[in-house]
Amino acid sequence: MALLEVRDVDAGYGAGPNILRGLSLKVEAGKSYCIIGPNGAGKSTLLKVISGLLPTRAGEVTFRGVPFNGARPDQVLAAGICFVPQEQAVFPEMSVRENLVMGGYLVKDRGLIKTRMDRVFELFPILAQRASLDAGKLSGGQQQMLTLGRALMIDPDILMLDEPSLGLAPQVADQIFATIRELEDLGITIVMVEQNAIRGLQLADWGVVLDLGIVRFEGPADTILEDQRIRELYLGKAVDAGDAP
Ligand SMILES: Nc1ncnc2c1ncn2[C@@H]1O[C@H](COP(=O)(O)OP(=O)(O)OP(=O)(O)O)[C@@H](O)[C@H]1O
Ligand SMILES: [Mg+2]
Repeated sequence: MALLEVRDVDAGYGAGPNILRGLSLKVEAGKSYCIIGPNGAGKSTLLKVISGLLPTRAGEVTFRGVPFNGARPDQVLAAGICFVPQEQAVFPEMSVRENLVMGGYLVKDRGLIKTRMDRVFELFPILAQRASLDAGKLSGGQQQMLTLGRALMIDPDILMLDEPSLGLAPQVADQIFATIRELEDLGITIVMVEQNAIRGLQLADWGVVLDLGIVRFEGPADTILEDQRIRELYLGKAVDAGDAP
């Protein structure tokens, strides 16, 4: 059984048209997924549906075999699916440590909060060094590390990241990608949307190409990377830009 399954889902906004149109996707435990596709394809919409921010109009979403269409975002989070949206920001006037405590607000056990915070500090030593600093004083890359760290405070089964490298300088983006790799190694199932398709696919086990609200192609990420047709259609620009390994 897939850990998470999206089956024949339609979804859209308000009275508008379907943005997701009969979309199906299976997410297996311990694997990492990179969702790519053109602007407006519905990538963020899919993550919003899974995280309970946008209701389905048809179809089903199941987690560990249990349907959870209609679950509220806090219920989805408590079940173990954590969504870090594109526009996620830190609380600038709270310290790094306080931001992490906020991330663990669902965790009642103080000892557990401490253990998880220690793990975050191990992953991101710079955050440990700056634990008492206001989060707003961190660099952009460090703030992105903090949003990842905050997500880790609930020890999610699935971590969903929408454009984690967006707006970051190349070296900082490299750091974030390296961190995502470490999270994969910890066994966290990762579903990420990445505009930098080549980098995202290089990190992931499985690649998913979304277009016009459906899964157009999916397969092992290295196969997707090498597929001539997909390269021309969806990775063209990035390849032309000389993003060679
Ligand atoms: N809050 C909203 N209200 C109405 N329409 C929306 C809303 N958010 C997104 N849409 C529409 O849904 C479609 C898919 O948007 P979505 O954000 O899922 O695309 P995306 O694949 O994430 O694109 P991008 O690469 O630009 O982030 C677009 O046509 C967009 O205009
Ligand atoms: Mg998006």
